Amino acid sequence: MEIFGTNQHKVIFGDCIDVLKELPDNSVDLIFADPPYNIGKNFNGQIEKWNSEESYLNWCYNWLDLCIKKIKESGSFYVMTATQFMPYFDIYLRNKMTILSRICWYYDSSGVQAKRYYGSMYEPILFCVKDKNNYTFNSDEILVEAKTGAKRKLIDYRKSIPTIYNSEKVPGNVWEFPRVRYRMEEYENHPTQKPTELLKRIIKASSNIGDLVLDPFAGTFTTNYVAKELNRNSIGIEIQDEYVKIGLRRLNISNEFRGEKIEKKIRTFEMHNTQFVKQPVLFD
Ligand SMILES: C[S@@+](CC[C@H](N)C(=O)[O-])C[C@H]1O[C@@H](n2cnc3c(N)ncnc32)[C@H](O)[C@@H]1O
Repeated sequence: MEIFGTNQHKVIFGDCIDVLKELPDNSVDLIFADPPYNIGKNFNGQIEKWNSEESYLNWCYNWLDLCIKKIKESGSFYVMTATQFMPYFDIYLRNKMTILSRICWYYDSSGVQAKRYYGSMYEPILFCVKDKNNYTFNSDEILVEAKTGAKRKLIDYRKSIPTIYNSEKVPGNVWEFPRVRYRMEEYENHPTQKPTELLKRIIKASSNIGDLVLDPFAGTFTTNYVAKELNRNSIGIEIQDEYVKIGLRRLNISNEFRGEKIEKKIRTFEMHNTQFVKQPVLFD
């Protein structure tokens, strides 16, 4: 295990099971866990596919238990996995925590779609707390436009004094955020990077300034990046060195890793732009 960063923001290179065991119990305000889904994605050459569903689930139960231990009594846990495994997570977790919301992160996918069944357009997220009578939920920080009533300027006549519908509301459990695309500013070279907007909603709602947010499967360190932007403290754990480098760069912790300079790879369309910008110099 290698630890980089400061007391505020830590990038940890290692296996999350080993790292979680070392952390004090009841010390984290919010955990966001986005593990490998056991669907054969390629994480920097490592294909994430277990021998059986049972072995995948047993591995998951192991880190789920550790996460629960590390969360404070007033803390929250957001967990993702593939649609086919979420029912197991749900049944496992509902005996150990209170599941307050079963969130559906929905996105429009313009890529190749299934032709002989209904293509998958969402990923499930569980929102759990340890104590349903004592947890952080900053609803005012995450309000969204209440389209139906307010836009059409409808009046609620059920009230004793008829009033215009609210123009804002707390989001429901279906969240629409675009997936991270190659041309987006936030894009990093990782197959399952989560959008900053998704993490902004979770971190704003379920933590306060100065709280500790932990991500055991940091990938591109989106959680830490957003936590830093929102003045929270963060710990991100990642097992692949290539992704640790992304974390060190995104969090401004270091511009080198083991003597090697860390640089963001230029995307194909940026290469053209660079050539375009450089060209006039030739005519100087
Ligand atoms: C689904 S991705 C997370 C993506 C991340 N949420 C983001 O926004 O970029 C899962 C990540 O977990 C990492 N990983 C897999 N097994 C791990 C382990 N045992 N400990 C720590 N990280 C692990 C993978 O390398 C991969 O980057």
